[in-house]
Amino acid sequence: MTDEAPDELDHGRRRFLTGAATVVGGAGVVFAAIPFLGFLRPSAEAESRGAPIEVDIGKMEPGQRLEFKWKGSPIWVINRTEEHLEALDKDVGRLRDPDSEVDQQPSYCDNMYRSVDPNVFVVIPICTHLGCIPTYYPEIGPMDFDQNWLGGFFCPCHGARYDIAGRVYKGQPAPRNLEVPPHHSDGDTLIVGEHPDDYQA
Ligand code: FES
Repeated sequence: MTDEAPDELDHGRRRFLTGAATVVGGAGVVFAAIPFLGFLRPSAEAESRGAPIEVDIGKMEPGQRLEFKWKGSPIWVINRTEEHLEALDKDVGRLRDPDSEVDQQPSYCDNMYRSVDPNVFVVIPICTHLGCIPTYYPEIGPMDFDQNWLGGFFCPCHGARYDIAGRVYKGQPAPRNLEVPPHHSDGDTLIVGEHPDDYQA
């Protein structure tokens, strides 16, 4: 891998994917209580995280990204395609922490997908090196600027590459995988900031 920033990008496609997702986000982000969990009590840990938010993801297209903030942090939701999912075990030997052993995700996301629903990837897009915001590369396949990287998230500050589950490659300046926030989803609605396991009767 090289550490050079890319100078040939598929700007057109990325604009489409991000732009369309922004429309979904603008219409779909709702700050709300969680009615179906309202009769339960949040655990102390869940309360300390702050209020969860509810997001409409039902109209996201495959590959789209939705952006919003939770507790002041950027949150991205990626509607992963089947091609994205198939790519997750192609580069395992080159990843620094392929099994997510470092505590960068809730325990219910300790899996290859690093998510509750494989198609719905929720991530805090802050590079674990020095905190830059990576760029989302939805296309799966060798990149013009790096034939050995198959897409996912690229940090332009010092060149860290992550796969489409936010797992960092070995030899990169970033020490850990991207962080996954608490969340759950039924495919149409995404709740960020809590999980049913956080509640007790
Ligand atoms: S801040 Fe991302 S590689 Fe340095």
